[in-house]
Amino acid sequence: MRVIHSLAVAFGLACAVLPAQARDWATIKQSGSIVVASEGAYAPFNYFQGSTLTGYEIDVMNAMAAKLGLKVEWRALGFDALIASIRQDRFDAAIASHGITEERQKSVDFTNPHYCSGGQIVTKAGGPTKGSELANKVIGVQLATTYADAAKKVTGAKEVKTFPKDTDAQQALISGRVDAWVTDRFVAKSAVEKNASAGLKTGELLFVERIATVVRKGNNELRDQLNKALAELKADGTLKKISEKYFKEDITCQ
Ligand code: ARG
Repeated sequence: MRVIHSLAVAFGLACAVLPAQARDWATIKQSGSIVVASEGAYAPFNYFQGSTLTGYEIDVMNAMAAKLGLKVEWRALGFDALIASIRQDRFDAAIASHGITEERQKSVDFTNPHYCSGGQIVTKAGGPTKGSELANKVIGVQLATTYADAAKKVTGAKEVKTFPKDTDAQQALISGRVDAWVTDRFVAKSAVEKNASAGLKTGELLFVERIATVVRKGNNELRDQLNKALAELKADGTLKKISEKYFKEDITCQ
């Protein structure tokens, strides 16, 4: 009994200390499913409908996996934990509106982009709508995003408040705790429509970015397979169709 117990303890310790096994393409293919993480708090890209993860990116990944003959095993975690978790091999890929940046490319790899967008200012009546009007203003952004980077570069801003979720930054704008919110232009559009009584309005686009799936650095075969699937979805019109379902327009990169 004692032997079994200490074996179990040793095994548990090994599991806690050793990283989960890195999964290359062959292993994923053989298992029949790909483990993909998203956030689930970033409508219309990734969000929960009841207990179901849904949105443009969820549909895109499910469609890519189907092209590869795989099922998706979904995980949801905080946006700021996704890149670190990929590096620890907690899952095979993350699709959560990550912009392709040089900084991120130092630690992870990106597939080709599934949409093209940019960071936009959102305010209320009388608030700052241009980058140049953000001086002496309080800007709200989601933590660990390209919006946070952009906000920190604004000269003369009074304060940049970071929130764990983009929807928290949105709430802060609605309740007047920040003067401006910087977010994705399609998230902004949807938030303005959904909160008609709050009187939100969109302002200047501060930067543009290409949004892609994240994989572990060096997992080239997986990246190539996902790129192949994405190209097929583009060629057969599926990607455009998914985009129009959520946005009534084609947001894919032209
Ligand atoms: N596009 C921005 C970035 O690359 C924000 C992405 C936020 N995604 C999310 N699921 N909350 O950092």
